[in-house]
Amino acid sequence: MQSITIRRPDDWHLHLRDGAMLEGVIGDTSRDFARAIIMPNLVPPVVTTADAEAYRARIIAALPKGDKFQPLMTLYLTEHTNPDDVEAGKTSGLITAVKLYPAGATTNSHGGVRDIEKAIPVLERMAKIGLPLCVHGEVTTPEVDIFDREAVFIETVLDPLRKRLPELKVTMEHVTTKDGIDYIKSAKANLAGSITTHHLIINRNAILVGGIRPHYYCLPVAKRENHRLALRAAATSGDPRFFLGTDSAPHVDPLKECACGCAGIYTSINTMSCLAHVFEQESALDKLEAFASLNGPAWYGLPVNEERITLVKRKETVNFPGKVETGAGLVTVFDPMFPLHWDVER
Ligand code: DOR
Ligand code: ZN
Repeated sequence: MQSITIRRPDDWHLHLRDGAMLEGVIGDTSRDFARAIIMPNLVPPVVTTADAEAYRARIIAALPKGDKFQPLMTLYLTEHTNPDDVEAGKTSGLITAVKLYPAGATTNSHGGVRDIEKAIPVLERMAKIGLPLCVHGEVTTPEVDIFDREAVFIETVLDPLRKRLPELKVTMEHVTTKDGIDYIKSAKANLAGSITTHHLIINRNAILVGGIRPHYYCLPVAKRENHRLALRAAATSGDPRFFLGTDSAPHVDPLKECACGCAGIYTSINTMSCLAHVFEQESALDKLEAFASLNGPAWYGLPVNEERITLVKRKETVNFPGKVETGAGLVTVFDPMFPLHWDVER
């Protein structure tokens, strides 16, 4: 039997939702992860530090007894975000980052930013106080093909913004293209990227071959195989600029399996098993700790976790439930389409 012990991992991009869904899914994260950056795209979104404080309290209240999970809160950037409120949130230690959703890019992003010019005062303040900006890096321009939206965002929004505010720390979240990987590698400073579990495993065929498979649909949408290979190379390289952000995003089945299904893949429950599989395939198990447990804290200026987890490779298949029952309804679990053998020892 093979096994590997690493520092307890963190998830640098997570959707926990609220209410019954929050209660139904949080245990799947707190079981394996010490901390997570919590996405603010609730309805209504988490736009002020007061919103974030209240949401944090609801998350803590929903934690299974005994779990020590720490939610790292973010604010949803709008064209009216108050720089003083953002600074107060950072100073108090409540706020870890601010999230930029281009308006219309994804789930509950309609209150996001249409005109980046309007957000410049907040972004300037963030650059000054060293508060990172997490970006959903896709343009929403109707003329731009959905498979090109990340590359066009880098060229037309992100690169100009970084040239204008070189001191601003930017996390390109859920990078899905070789263009994104190359752009991050080309930066001299103040740019890093998170990579999801599922984008290391699926390409766009998973969504479209043999029928439309809504449980593989997320945003940014999975791209061609050459992009997946670039993501795998970056994630398993040990390069400190790349770290895990699962983007685990639960939606109940009826909202996925319909004429206009929601974007989002639920991976919290089996991410560590999937990652160990991927890293073993790439002969890079020795880099798993960097990707899941070391590079993220270094980027966000936080201490690494002192606790360890052990992953063991079992002869038999490790079975996860196909669906998770939440108070809000059933949520389908990501199926990597290969048997899993790596298991987190409990
Ligand atoms: O697939 C996604 N789901 N991508 C996002 O950016 C948002 C997320 C969600 O909130 O469902
Ligand atoms: Zn997300």
